[in-house]
Amino acid sequence: MDNKWGDADRPAAHHVAIIMDGNGRWAAERGLPRVEGHRQGVETVRRIVEASMELGITHLTLFSFSSENWSRPEQEIYDLFGLLRRFVRRDLAELHKNGVKIRVVGSRNGLEDDILRMLDDAVELTKNNTALNLTIAFNYGGRDEIARAAQRIAEDAKQGVLAPKDVTQDRFASYLDTAGLPDPDLLIRTSGELRLSNFLLWQLAYAEFVFVDVYWPEFTKELFEAAISEYQRRNRRFGGRSARSTA
Ligand code: IPE
Ligand code: IPE
Ligand code: MG
Repeated sequence: MDNKWGDADRPAAHHVAIIMDGNGRWAAERGLPRVEGHRQGVETVRRIVEASMELGITHLTLFSFSSENWSRPEQEIYDLFGLLRRFVRRDLAELHKNGVKIRVVGSRNGLEDDILRMLDDAVELTKNNTALNLTIAFNYGGRDEIARAAQRIAEDAKQGVLAPKDVTQDRFASYLDTAGLPDPDLLIRTSGELRLSNFLLWQLAYAEFVFVDVYWPEFTKELFEAAISEYQRRNRRFGGRSARSTA
């Protein structure tokens, strides 16, 4: 059995980020409306959050609505927001009880006050939990996040709070929505698509990527473990020499 927590040869995946993709195609292949795919997708979220805790993962980040998803039909956006509302309403107490600390990354622009309040309340309620750091990327786009960080940096420079020479990588990262979070070790994307779709552009610089050929509604704990095992067989070099090489 694999050691999920890692050792010298098999690094632990502390932070896993997931692009939960393929809900629509899952539904279409079954002759169901897309919303049914999104509904099943929420079931998978429950399953994977639970599995993460069992597998000793400390950080899980889920891409749930992108800044580009606004280009979908209004009805689908309405359905997705409805499912988020229902998820928070139904699952928050249980997540809190299990020690899950919720964080939200993404733009607040364009979101209605009641959604913002609901998300803020979930973050506030769970802020002292330590079992699992669950980050929801909602209304999130990597370029948007970087541009918003640059705006705030420019504003601070104008105010004299920050000198241009102080804008180091670490300082820049502290202006991102993910400030304080470790970078993901492993990125998983379901549905067979081989792209980032504007997810965590800065943070994924040295993540290992695993693409899984099933739709998100059918992603299981076993497939999750298999992706982590594949990650553990990778040789992370970060531009240096292999820790495993003998030559
Ligand atoms: C992922 O499933 C959920 C969101 C992007 C919100 P999709 O809705 O993208 O499903 P496909 O990719 O069209 O199958
Ligand atoms: C990425 O999936 C966004 C989320 C999973 C929330 P998309 O389905 O929106 O990505 P593209 O359009 O296939 O690149
Ligand atoms: Mg998709």
